[in-house]
Amino acid sequence: MYPAWLVPVLGSGLIIAIIATFHILPSHLATGSFWFNVWLERKAYKENRPELLQFLKKYVLLILIFCFVYGSITGVWIWFSATVSSPRAISSLIHNYVWGWATEWVFFIIEIVAIYVYYYTFGKIDGQHHLRVGWTYAWGAWISMVIITGILAFMLTPGKWLETGKFFDGFFNPTYWPQLFTRTALMFSVAGIYAIIVASRLDNPDLKVEITRKAALWGIGGLIFGAIFAYWYILKLPPEAKNLVFGGELPYLKTLLKVAVIMGAVVGVYYVVFGLIAPHLSNPVVGIIVAIILFLGIGAGEGFREGVRRPYIINYFMYGSSQVIARSIPPKGVEEEVSKLNENGYLSVLYYLPEQLRTITENNKLEVGRILVVHQCAACHTLEPNGLLRPLPKLLSGMEKDDIRDLLDSLGDYAYMPPFIGTDEEKDAAAAYLATLAK
Ligand code: HEC
Repeated sequence: MYPAWLVPVLGSGLIIAIIATFHILPSHLATGSFWFNVWLERKAYKENRPELLQFLKKYVLLILIFCFVYGSITGVWIWFSATVSSPRAISSLIHNYVWGWATEWVFFIIEIVAIYVYYYTFGKIDGQHHLRVGWTYAWGAWISMVIITGILAFMLTPGKWLETGKFFDGFFNPTYWPQLFTRTALMFSVAGIYAIIVASRLDNPDLKVEITRKAALWGIGGLIFGAIFAYWYILKLPPEAKNLVFGGELPYLKTLLKVAVIMGAVVGVYYVVFGLIAPHLSNPVVGIIVAIILFLGIGAGEGFREGVRRPYIINYFMYGSSQVIARSIPPKGVEEEVSKLNENGYLSVLYYLPEQLRTITENNKLEVGRILVVHQCAACHTLEPNGLLRPLPKLLSGMEKDDIRDLLDSLGDYAYMPPFIGTDEEKDAAAAYLATLAK
């Protein structure tokens, strides 16, 4: 085990969620926007309309700045925060998918080079060649999504990988296609809003109306198909996940789903009103507000996707927070660890602990208890009464040490929490520390 990352008040889970939410908009814009671009650029050459090219140049510069500064930085932050928060889970993913990520990064580099070439050769090279650079970007960006979606979906539905341990058995898993299709559809919707915002700043009113209408159609198409594919995704969820959401185990997941649907509907109304019915009324302020609504909707959807695999961080394979391997994967030579750790103690694998904390005594009991709680609860719960992420002092308030001890015994019976892992002595120490929080 690696040391744990304890984030006061916010909780490490919330930090990742916040960063990831801010990554969504630039990442989906980066993959979706250029399809609109090449489509419009082709039209510009075919119908000989240089004014469309002027719009495109504006459109690309903003993508370049927004996606490739803001998007890249938040992408790196996701890596940092996820790695320190769940180092073992990231390690498992890397051990399985290092070539997946290597491939993704090749396409990512293609994407970056292509957008710079595209922007700086605007009007300087022949149109057909320029268009080819645009296509290179569009495909490169989308293929990077094709790859990363496999790894994201693997965490919820590892599929046949659980038996075979094979790369593609985990990659093409039961939620892969629905998730890829949902993201692909929604990226057009993100691109649509963005195009409308840029178009609303154009001086030429006819051009503004024309582009706004077209972008709204792209956006509406993206939303409709996004909704259909998202429904398919929900049908494909594993039974335990459906139970968490629809069986009433974790009501907030259903709320997230509702938020996503409502936000999607609001964006749809915007496309119809400001895109199709009265495009001349569209303005940057309304556009940005609607982009934020879309962003909250997608954020809620991603929160849902991350939430439904509880109590695991990699479904059926590794528990959240404690990061203990729950199941053997014989072809990989990976062994289940729960029984061994219940016998030898969770402390036995905390290599970083100093000698005086490796055996529990009356003097160090609370301190060791705290370390165990930080490892096994703190990725999902904060330890301060005013903590934002399901604060344990509130959830445990009024409970005595013995009740807490019983709770730890039955923790694994909750559909959304992993069992407490360790010896009876360790459970005692954790209960003793938790009792101080309850007070
Ligand atoms: C993988 C995430 C996860 C881990 C790890 C986890 N919990 Fe929870 N816990 C939850 C969720 C989700 C809830 C539901 C809270 C809610 O309803 O908002 C919850 C609820 C609770 C509750 C309230 C009981 C109830 O009826 O819902 C208690 C008490 C609790 N957890 C204690 C703990 C303790 C102690 C640990 C560590 C030994 C722990 N949890 C580890 C996710 C987790």
